[in-house]
Amino acid sequence: MKSMKIGPNYDEMLNPMQLEEKYQKARELAKHDEFDPNNLFNITWKPNGTDVHKVLLPKALTGVDANIIVMLGKHFPSGSHKVGPAYATMIEGYIDGLIDPEKHTILGPSTGNFGIGVTYISHLLKMPSIVIMPDNMSAERYKRIKDYGGQLMLTPGTESDVILTLEKTHKLMKNPKYYALAQFELMPNYRFHRHVTGHSAISAVKGIGNERVRLFVSAPGSAGTLAAGDHLKTKFNECEIAAVEPYECSTLMNGGRGQHKIEGIGDKMCTLIHNVLNTDYLVLIKDDDSVKGLKVIYDGLEILKENGIDHDTAMALKDMFGVSGICNILASIKMAKKLKLTDADNIVTMATDGFDRYDSVLIDLEKREKTINHAVLSQWFDATFKGMDTADIKPVKDALSKEQLFKQKESDWLKFGYKKSYLDAMKDPAFWEEAYQKVEYYNTTIKTLRKEQI
Ligand SMILES: Cc1ncc(COP(=O)(O)O)c(C=O)c1O
Repeated sequence: MKSMKIGPNYDEMLNPMQLEEKYQKARELAKHDEFDPNNLFNITWKPNGTDVHKVLLPKALTGVDANIIVMLGKHFPSGSHKVGPAYATMIEGYIDGLIDPEKHTILGPSTGNFGIGVTYISHLLKMPSIVIMPDNMSAERYKRIKDYGGQLMLTPGTESDVILTLEKTHKLMKNPKYYALAQFELMPNYRFHRHVTGHSAISAVKGIGNERVRLFVSAPGSAGTLAAGDHLKTKFNECEIAAVEPYECSTLMNGGRGQHKIEGIGDKMCTLIHNVLNTDYLVLIKDDDSVKGLKVIYDGLEILKENGIDHDTAMALKDMFGVSGICNILASIKMAKKLKLTDADNIVTMATDGFDRYDSVLIDLEKREKTINHAVLSQWFDATFKGMDTADIKPVKDALSKEQLFKQKESDWLKFGYKKSYLDAMKDPAFWEEAYQKVEYYNTTIKTLRKEQI
């Protein structure tokens, strides 16, 4: 079997300064050439090697006392942190002997960013890839996949029809020439976020509030990112986790299955890798509030200034978020109000990607709204950030709520051949601890294999 270029292990993605000096140099050089395979060593929350890429939101924007810290994913190679789970799943698959670089075509079931990450990683590792995604996502996503040399296999619908992509993937997986980086069901996604994102979230709150994390907020697509909260809970006993869904597609809260406009989240299922034991709240955010909020941040410089945000800060915010990032911010504001959090409390949330893949979403908003002037933007600022209410929050700590979530998981996964006993094992926290402990094994193996390649 042909060997595959080996990149960083989990510890090195967390702390790139642990890499041997030659890889540190190589990762700096690779920043100038997107297609340099040494960009594998740039899969980290710490692009400069030491500091987590994040923003502490101005209180003039959030209107709450709690500190809302957004970890920013746009600097990752391929433009979103979803490249991390894509690489983790690829390298684990190779180590486990499941991927043969000479034989396999890699499949990426996705609504976009994971698919972009899969194609990108496959390109760096010189393997063919196919992204299976809905046919109605933002145009920028398809272009990126094609630019990275990936093929597209489109299934009908939008974001909330991602289940169709999953069905298609499972059909293709029967053919031995394919290997699927199945983000909704494979544990490397969990391990990447619990280890790399979880520890990075702790670094992100250094020097802010009480330097602890009171609340972790993430809108699940695959629910990989939510695993960071699992790590935070082991460090801060007061830490709670809020999972956010589109109001229009509230599958976890009440089985809702409508269409919505927040790309990357709300995939009409409880994913296999979602540790629902640790989810404390479900929160709904309206898709239009997220899109309008993005428009205000992107085009509402004057509005932001009128509301007390200084020019430089407002300009810096402009490109930082995509629609799901705004959704996470709005949910953080909602929860800060609901829990009456103070200026000692930190909320950590995510911007999976940046504005660069949402031009077409704002063009669509302009078509729908016809007039978007100063007064309209001002009204949107008041209705979204400033005026966020505390409706549509459901605590799910109780046994009945957990049972409902497990039932949702069963109805989503038994049909793909998973055994009831496997799903039942997930009801025990030990399942998740065991899954996480494997990080150590992969850390050691990745490092050993890389040394052998020299
Ligand atoms: C833009 C965007 N936001 C949020 C998410 C959800 O992240 P996760 O899959 O880790 O739950 C995704 C996932 O693809 C995404 O692309």
